[in-house]
Amino acid sequence: MLKIAPSILAADFSRLGAEIEDVKNGGADWLHVDVMDGRFVPNISVGIPVVASVRRATDMFLDVHLMILEPVRYAARFCDAGADLVSFHVEADSPEGISAAVEAVKAKGKKAGVVLKPATPASAAAPWLERVDMVLVMTVEPGFGGQSFMADMLPKLRELRAMMDRVNPGCILETDGGIDVTTAPLVAAAGCDMAVAGSAVFGKKDRAQAIRAIRESAREQ
Ligand code: DX5
Ligand code: ZN
Repeated sequence: MLKIAPSILAADFSRLGAEIEDVKNGGADWLHVDVMDGRFVPNISVGIPVVASVRRATDMFLDVHLMILEPVRYAARFCDAGADLVSFHVEADSPEGISAAVEAVKAKGKKAGVVLKPATPASAAAPWLERVDMVLVMTVEPGFGGQSFMADMLPKLRELRAMMDRVNPGCILETDGGIDVTTAPLVAAAGCDMAVAGSAVFGKKDRAQAIRAIRESAREQ
């Protein structure tokens, strides 16, 4: 069954604790936190102090998506702030830099993931597939919530699922961007385990109903 990670990027930050409580009670599996530096992506969101506050406010699994250049500089600090999983874009540093970031997270006893932008092929994840706990495929250009799902990412999801099943079957395949009741069935059928949803959850009044609807839509696959 497809699991759901609501992205707080679409939440009301002035009442973040209540927003998180709402999706937790609504049955969300993970909580997704989008960290943007204004360099790797053309937007700035939240950072280490917000992750630390969220950590104190909830026992939910925190899936921290770093959209920052040279993530090894901050990977350990996000772990210390309370992230359960930290993921980085393979485009954000040299292969050595990405490996160092993965190892920094592992050394903290946390889960590590690599992320691919839409233009990045599945093969770019290969060097880390055996070592990471998750691969995240962006189904929009990273930087903003509320964009339209890119259906041309579906073959990449299927390709990654097949690659992961060969070398690391326990590795989670996550998708992020434009996930709703229409697109969740498509990513589930392509082999995704976990779907990030911002607007399709926090943009609705009844979050429990929104989460249930996305999950149910994917079950029909
Ligand atoms: C985009 C972020 C996403 C975003 C998803 O850079 O990584 O997590 O919040 O938002 P929706 O679900 O609205 O596309
Ligand atoms: Zn994200």
